[in-house]
Amino acid sequence: MLNPEVYILAIESSCDDTAAAVLCNDKVLSNVVANQLVHTQYGGVVPELASRAHQQNIVPVIDAALKKANISKEQLSAIAFTQGPGLMGSLLVGSSFAKSMALALNIPLIAVNHMQAHILAHFIDEAGYDKPEFPFIALTISGGHTQIVRVGNYFDMTIIGETTDDAVGEAFDKTAKILGLPYPGGPLVDKNAQLGNPKAFKFTKPKVPGLDFSFSGLKTAILYFIQKNKAENPNFIDENINDICASIQYTIIEILMDKLKMAVKETGIKQIAIGGGVSANSGIRNTLKEAYAKYGWKTFVPKFEYTTDNAAMIGIVGYQKFLSQNFENASVVSKARIQF
Ligand code: KG4
Ligand code: ZN
Repeated sequence: MLNPEVYILAIESSCDDTAAAVLCNDKVLSNVVANQLVHTQYGGVVPELASRAHQQNIVPVIDAALKKANISKEQLSAIAFTQGPGLMGSLLVGSSFAKSMALALNIPLIAVNHMQAHILAHFIDEAGYDKPEFPFIALTISGGHTQIVRVGNYFDMTIIGETTDDAVGEAFDKTAKILGLPYPGGPLVDKNAQLGNPKAFKFTKPKVPGLDFSFSGLKTAILYFIQKNKAENPNFIDENINDICASIQYTIIEILMDKLKMAVKETGIKQIAIGGGVSANSGIRNTLKEAYAKYGWKTFVPKFEYTTDNAAMIGIVGYQKFLSQNFENASVVSKARIQF
């Protein structure tokens, strides 16, 4: 008979956030994230620096998560960690720590796929948030991925569309860089966009067959647009930053919505759940919330803190895997690339 109260310590270290969370069954007791500011000056994540920062952060972050949850490590039922995808040097810090701690405490070790976690974050029990019913369509949009996934069950996931080049988060970050905004630019584009006119400037949407995406053409189009306008008016960016950001964001949302409409038509599924860092975007959140009235879709937008990288989402997958006794031994390896 299973212990009715399962306490999972979850560790996430796939990119540049060191995160730890404690869950009691599907409820989050603590969710701690240490962001790495060291990358800002380089305009992107520097893998070796990320790995080093994870090593500095991991002990205090885990300690804070346990203290905040008011749980001693002896009460833990299992330890879940991100196996991949991600930066190898970053993943190894989390996995080594998780393995050692699980061995020391003699409790099960659970490996979690980061992209599955972005999707299953919707199953965290949170007042005011409904959970999607299977099957549903998940749109995972982050700095590393852009995927449309058919979710048949917790671990029955099929990618039905994905980017052929840049991820949507990269589209935000790289265009932000063109505009002279610091890394990561996505949240800043969002902030400026809220004050601008989304139809001030028009950018051509890429023509990609099926449910796949492409964002590299948009980035180039924006670069040429800025170069051309700056040649005519050196202050073009400063004078129009809100309208430029609003127009770029509008185009990106249109690209995503076109493919979602196609996915709904192809699958007949009208439940859409979004996940990944870019689902923090206010324009995307509002557009999806309006989609019920417009298209009859039931949409699920996670609580803000479960959209960007966090360990609570790793914990909810850990909990599901715990229920099915899906454990690993210490020989489990980290994977920079991993499919569902
Ligand atoms: O899921 P995530 O935290 O890390 C990855 O797994 O990649 O996603 C990070 C990405 C970055 O590209 C960041 O710029 C973007 O999410 N992002 C946003 C917003 N907040 C984060 N993009 C647009 N609008 C936002 N509000
Ligand atoms: Zn992520």
